[in-house]
Amino acid sequence: MQALNNNALVAVIGAGAMGAGIAQVAAQAGHPVRLYDKRPGAAAQAIEGIGRQLSKRVEAGKLAASAYDACMTHLQPADELLALSDASLVIEAIVENLQVKRELFAQLEALCRPDCILASNTSSLSITSLAAGLQHPERMIGMHFFNPAPLMALVEIVCGLATDPELAASLHATARAWGKKPVFARSTPGFIVNRVARPFYTESLRLLQEGVADCATLDALLREAGGFRMGAFELTDLIGHDVNYAVTCSVFDAYYQDMRFQPSLIQKELVDAGRLGRKSGHGFYDYREGAERPQPASLSSTTQVESVVVEGQLGALSPLLDRLRDQGIAVLQRDGRGLLRVGDAVLALSDGRLASQRAFEEGLSNLILLDLALDYRSASRLGISWAAGTSQAAIDQAVGLLAAVGIRASALRDSPGLCVLRTVAMLANEGADALLQGVASAADIDLAMCAGVNYPRGPLAWADSLGIATVTTVLNNLQSTYGEERYRPSLQLRRQLADGSLFHE
Ligand code: NAI
Repeated sequence: MQALNNNALVAVIGAGAMGAGIAQVAAQAGHPVRLYDKRPGAAAQAIEGIGRQLSKRVEAGKLAASAYDACMTHLQPADELLALSDASLVIEAIVENLQVKRELFAQLEALCRPDCILASNTSSLSITSLAAGLQHPERMIGMHFFNPAPLMALVEIVCGLATDPELAASLHATARAWGKKPVFARSTPGFIVNRVARPFYTESLRLLQEGVADCATLDALLREAGGFRMGAFELTDLIGHDVNYAVTCSVFDAYYQDMRFQPSLIQKELVDAGRLGRKSGHGFYDYREGAERPQPASLSSTTQVESVVVEGQLGALSPLLDRLRDQGIAVLQRDGRGLLRVGDAVLALSDGRLASQRAFEEGLSNLILLDLALDYRSASRLGISWAAGTSQAAIDQAVGLLAAVGIRASALRDSPGLCVLRTVAMLANEGADALLQGVASAADIDLAMCAGVNYPRGPLAWADSLGIATVTTVLNNLQSTYGEERYRPSLQLRRQLADGSLFHE
């Protein structure tokens, strides 16, 4: 399907943070752009702001002066809606209010050409219901950019019930021609990113609420073991708790209070207190002048380790063995059920059971569970927790082993699935459920999470590499340990487990 021609007029309505960014993207792609805002002068101001930003880039040698000129001549403010009547594409980025947006689209439908694409940048409203009052709901579509639009690659192309698939394909091609990474999504609450990302925040919030570790330690684990750019507390402090909490509440309500999306009381308390994060100077962390940033908790050990015994296959933990060998630690192999023995300690990757429960069920003493790492070859920190009754000597041996290969160990209170493993299992579960419900393809779900929120690996690709059986086992164990349906594995996982297929063949 063809992208819109470069000379097609693009109209952007709403000259706030998003509208200005979108107008800049379209103008830089070569389209004539008209920017309209109901507040007189706002569109012209926004264009001046774009000009200031871009001229700084020219001065820094990052943008050619000719590209600056081309972009600025393409951008024109519009004083009235009527000036948008010959647009081929209108992108609305006004206040997030269903009624106000509906009224605007009704006006646009009356004044724009019959083949004009009517797109909304809404992040939470249903495209189906935005289109409901229109004479031609088939030309209404979501074009969901991420903030800041000129920098973020992802665009969710969101189809409502009536959206014309050809129009969706054309807008997808257009977003690609604008240098973006578009994905298709069905209009369902949270589309892809705002739905699949929920567990990233809510699982850390739960771990904090249950006293498993402090914010700095949990954040460090998601960064240094999980490979995420930020942990959940530093990220929600950046996003703003009012915004992040509102998105969680809206997705929770939209899915009829499905407990998978249950908001956190700890986050609500921050919102109630006005501790909105960086923008208010205080969130989970204190950003006021002179405030000290808490450091993650790390265990230390002086125990020297010379050899380990591997019993059976370690699965996802296996790459750790290469790292041990590289440090001259002897690795002896024998049959068994996937355990790593060092002195008195028995180490294993968590399977979602409590360490104490697993130690009891498998008759193991000194059982120490390890958390998941994106790559055990390069992780610099790992979460560990141990069964009740584990000796201090065994803990020292485990910590000494990890220290020998440059991994800091952070102690987590015995909790199912530790931190990274449980977060990744729940992200994969949400991605799988979105796939099951036809929200998007597996490829688009993973692309959306990598391009939209910078995940180090798509959650479905992560499930493939970890093993769908492993992810399902972790979720089953979380579900039975908590006794909560929140952790129920998606039917999609169970299906794929039964037929042996991967998300990405
Ligand atoms: P904003 O508050 O910065 O800007 C909204 C602009 O729309 C204001 O300049 C306002 O004067 C104008 N406006 C309001 N009602 C209007 C009307 N009836 N006609 C014309 N102009 C009108 O808002 P922001 O953050 O730019 O968001 C706009 C839309 O983009 C919302 O739907 C929001 O959900 C969505 N969005 C926001 C993201 C963000 O991170 N801020 C990310 C992705 C989507």
